[in-house]
Amino acid sequence: MSILITGGAGFIGCNFVLDWLKKNEERVINIDALTYAGNLMSLNELKNDKRHIFVQGDIGDSDKVATILAKYKPRAVINFAAESHVDRSIIGPEQFIQTNVLGTFLLLETVKTYWEQLSELEKSEFRFLHVSTDEVYGSLETSDPGFTEHHRYKPNSPYSASKAASDHLVRAYHHTYGLPVLTTNCSNNYGPFHFPEKLIPLVIYNALNKKALPIYGNGQQIRDWLYVKDHCNAIRLVLSKGKPGETYNVGGSSEKTNLDVVKTLCKVLDGVSPREDGESYSQQITFVRDRPGHDHRYAIDAGKIAKQLGWQPIESFESGIRKTVLWYLENQPWVEAVISGNYRDWVSTQYDKQYENSYYR
Ligand code: NAD
Ligand code: DAU
Repeated sequence: MSILITGGAGFIGCNFVLDWLKKNEERVINIDALTYAGNLMSLNELKNDKRHIFVQGDIGDSDKVATILAKYKPRAVINFAAESHVDRSIIGPEQFIQTNVLGTFLLLETVKTYWEQLSELEKSEFRFLHVSTDEVYGSLETSDPGFTEHHRYKPNSPYSASKAASDHLVRAYHHTYGLPVLTTNCSNNYGPFHFPEKLIPLVIYNALNKKALPIYGNGQQIRDWLYVKDHCNAIRLVLSKGKPGETYNVGGSSEKTNLDVVKTLCKVLDGVSPREDGESYSQQITFVRDRPGHDHRYAIDAGKIAKQLGWQPIESFESGIRKTVLWYLENQPWVEAVISGNYRDWVSTQYDKQYENSYYR
């Protein structure tokens, strides 16, 4: 038996593959295009593990995906592959349409063709699990209840619009063709192997490297943070017990303003890796230009997955953040390795002009 993972060299995908092979003997085929966000170093510990088969490739390369499906006959496909960074989608939306919309469509087509020639039993047991985001629901006011699975889709960024389109395609392949799909819509993840363009790993990296800690606008936007391993647990549970055609919201019930997140990171870093001058890392906090169309608040109501499948997050925000900071301190070679090439160009496009004079030296 095997499962096929797409985007398994990215942040959540690599955590999923590593966890899966700790808990299961079942082989994982991992197809990833290795964009700037994909990094095989994250999967180093599986280098000699025959249960992990890595294929460099695009989810939109139908021939390659069909060959993999025919060769390994997976009982499930889990689609993590995507362009995932909101700021990049604002500056260059086209790649998001290419991968998240067209790529998901082509993947669905290829998987449908494979699924149609399975036996009736194999067909009924097959699953296509699509990993999506809470951002498809748009933005909440401070006092609104959290997003349930019935919340209207109101995506606001090119990223969330492209994910919303992919969710609709996945739904349509179930409704029209009967493909046994599952969709998860999760809140903000954090933890090991998180690419340092996203808020939490960026702040840890910048703090340790004497750079400004950039907070967009007034820092009062709210996100619902979930430790990545808890998301991986939820995906495994949905894969095994979820009902085809259903969607499941996943969240940490851990809402924080961005300013609070950054202050918490500074406090943990002050404790475990104090600045040479004895000052707090919070001195490095710098307010910068806001993200265009910045969503004010996301919050997930995870009642359905809790009640129906028995899922609960294990980590609190405090325990998860501490683990994350310690992981980054212990894995600086990984951070240095990913901060190269494309990423350096991206950082200068996004930030340098804004606060080149405000770096802490
Ligand atoms: P990521 O950007 O870290 O990783 C994406 C991976 O997909 C990379 O390894 C990249 O090389 C690969 N990839 C990109 N385009 C590809 C293509 N055309 N074909 C094959 N591989 C391709 O993203 P992530 O944070 O790990 O997110 C994974 C999934 O989870 C995404 O679908 C994202 O929308 C969703 N999600 C992320 C979060 C979060 O907080 N990070 C929360 C909810 C949902
Ligand atoms: O909600 C789930 C989503 O979470 C996922 O679908 C996305 O793939 C993932 O990237 C994440 O999106 P966000 O935009 O919420 O994450 P990001 O880490 O980019 O930003 C978190 C918040 O911090 C957001 O309100 C913007 C703010 N921010 C971000 C950066 C990079 C800053 O204030 N400064 C920064 O430098």
